[in-house]
Amino acid sequence: MDKAKVESFLDQFIGFAAGATTIGLLAVADRTGLSTYLGEHGGGTSQEIAEGANLDERYVREILSGLAAADIVDYDPETGSFDLPPEHALFLASELSPYFMGGWFDMIPATMSQIDGVAAAAKDGGGVGFEEFGPLMIRGIDRGNSPSYLVFLTSKWLPGVPELQERLEAGIRIADVGCGSGTAAMLMAEAYPKSHVTGFDVSGDSIATARRRVGDLSNVEFHGYTVEDIPIDPPFDLITTFDVIHDLVDPLAGLKQIREALAPDGVYLMMEPNASSNLEDNLNPRGALLYGVSTLHCMTQSLAHGGTGLGAAWGRQLAERYAADAGFSSFTPLEEISNRFSSFYLLKP
Ligand SMILES: C[S@@+](CC[C@H](N)C(=O)[O-])C[C@H]1O[C@@H](n2cnc3c(N)ncnc32)[C@H](O)[C@@H]1O
Repeated sequence: MDKAKVESFLDQFIGFAAGATTIGLLAVADRTGLSTYLGEHGGGTSQEIAEGANLDERYVREILSGLAAADIVDYDPETGSFDLPPEHALFLASELSPYFMGGWFDMIPATMSQIDGVAAAAKDGGGVGFEEFGPLMIRGIDRGNSPSYLVFLTSKWLPGVPELQERLEAGIRIADVGCGSGTAAMLMAEAYPKSHVTGFDVSGDSIATARRRVGDLSNVEFHGYTVEDIPIDPPFDLITTFDVIHDLVDPLAGLKQIREALAPDGVYLMMEPNASSNLEDNLNPRGALLYGVSTLHCMTQSLAHGGTGLGAAWGRQLAERYAADAGFSSFTPLEEISNRFSSFYLLKP
């Protein structure tokens, strides 16, 4: 037995456990408005912060002590002051920053709430269905993805698709499949008023949320359809899926339907987690996060319905193979608009 290795794994393990409890502290700070307060006012003593944020001082002190130990806030022992650096506030307190991580404070607790179900499925087969994760997961997905949609979708991602911008401005038929709470669909409808956007999602709760948020936008509509039932006539000029294909019960059937529903000169923009299909390429913290979220949510909710269970880290190589099997004539990774979290692929029918 290598004793140094044991000691080093102990440190590593303390890091894992501290990561989990730190996410819990950040979730409390998020829900109580403590993070927002720190983002807006910087810091102060726990007493000053508790008074300013209208919270209980004992809780504020314990939470901030944990966040100081985790190197998220700075602590000055001379004055007893805590301070959230502006670079960290981008992640914790600024809903409009593309770095905002608020979605994780809903998604991680939602995944953890289903550990017993996942463990039972790991023994007996099957899985935990999407609906079991409840409204916290729906809100987490939306809060997790919306900041980057707000900042990048119509300013960088869609303009980065060759020959699309002029068509979007002139007016085309767009479908966002697996639209969730509808943020991406509504942003496209707002940016391209001559185009018409239809959002489809199998989750009735997500569609209800999307419909509630439409306001007076008249060029967007939402339907509770599974991908396999999306209409093919009249066809769509642009179909998008944002973080959807790996969740599907039958991804091949879904992709075939998307191809069927595209006009001959239509294009399909697929966004999926940035990963390789080869485990050995994903052996890093981002891979650990992906396989974790996948086991505790993405994969299990597909297996719950007897699905393929592709998993969040199905990766580029497998995506390309599925595209070919579904009959797409081309599959082009769009490196310029891809990022650390997400890869974009352009598929033509
Ligand atoms: C990870 S969420 C992404 C939601 C949204 N696109 C976003 O980026 O915020 C995946 C979505 O796919 C939807 N979905 C899963 N299976 C589906 C199916 N067969 N047909 C349509 N939507 C489906 C889920 O209900 C969920 O809203």
